[in-house]
Amino acid sequence: MRPCCDCFSLTTGSSKKDTVSSRRNAPLAAFLVSSIYVDLTTQGGDRTVISFTINSEDVAYEGDASTPLLWVIRDHLDLKGTKFGCGIGQCGACTIHIDGVAQRSCVLPVAAIEGRAITTIEGLAPSHDELHPVQQAWLEHDVPQCGYCQAGQIMATVDLLNRIPDPTDADIDANHTNVCRCGTYVRIRKAIHRAAELTSGEES
Ligand code: FES
Ligand code: FES
Repeated sequence: MRPCCDCFSLTTGSSKKDTVSSRRNAPLAAFLVSSIYVDLTTQGGDRTVISFTINSEDVAYEGDASTPLLWVIRDHLDLKGTKFGCGIGQCGACTIHIDGVAQRSCVLPVAAIEGRAITTIEGLAPSHDELHPVQQAWLEHDVPQCGYCQAGQIMATVDLLNRIPDPTDADIDANHTNVCRCGTYVRIRKAIHRAAELTSGEES
């Protein structure tokens, strides 16, 4: 199965990988060369410069300090793997990591990430040739249906396994709260267990 989302696109399939990689790096490179991004929004909030890293690259954002981080990731850095769903912190489609901890970026002002390290789905895999164990488990169990929620599901799962390396079904139910409108929850649960095996080295 080939999902239409960006869960795996940076690490599998050379032609698509190259296309997406170029699309990702071009605006980011421009962002870095100029050091300052000129925000063209007209929201009129406090304008400031926020410096942080995203997927191990230094960036500086200039603009309204109250702009949601999700807007900066998608519209200013052109990293489209992180999705907008509810916009109120409920569904988890916008899940990213801040200093290794899962956060919902739609309700987080960019001002909150000064000096922090952000990881999005595009930066999760160790390299273009190697999937993260959670991505591998997702592929093995064909988890995505429409794919829209899956980047957030994967990012939330990585955080879950960091906190609970071998979760029970009850642990998953209590801690994995991302919503899937396609109802892929049974496959998500199986993939989380498989990812736990892969992460611990108990491969079969
Ligand atoms: S879009 Fe952020 S939680 Fe739904
Ligand atoms: S796979 Fe469609 S919303 Fe989750």
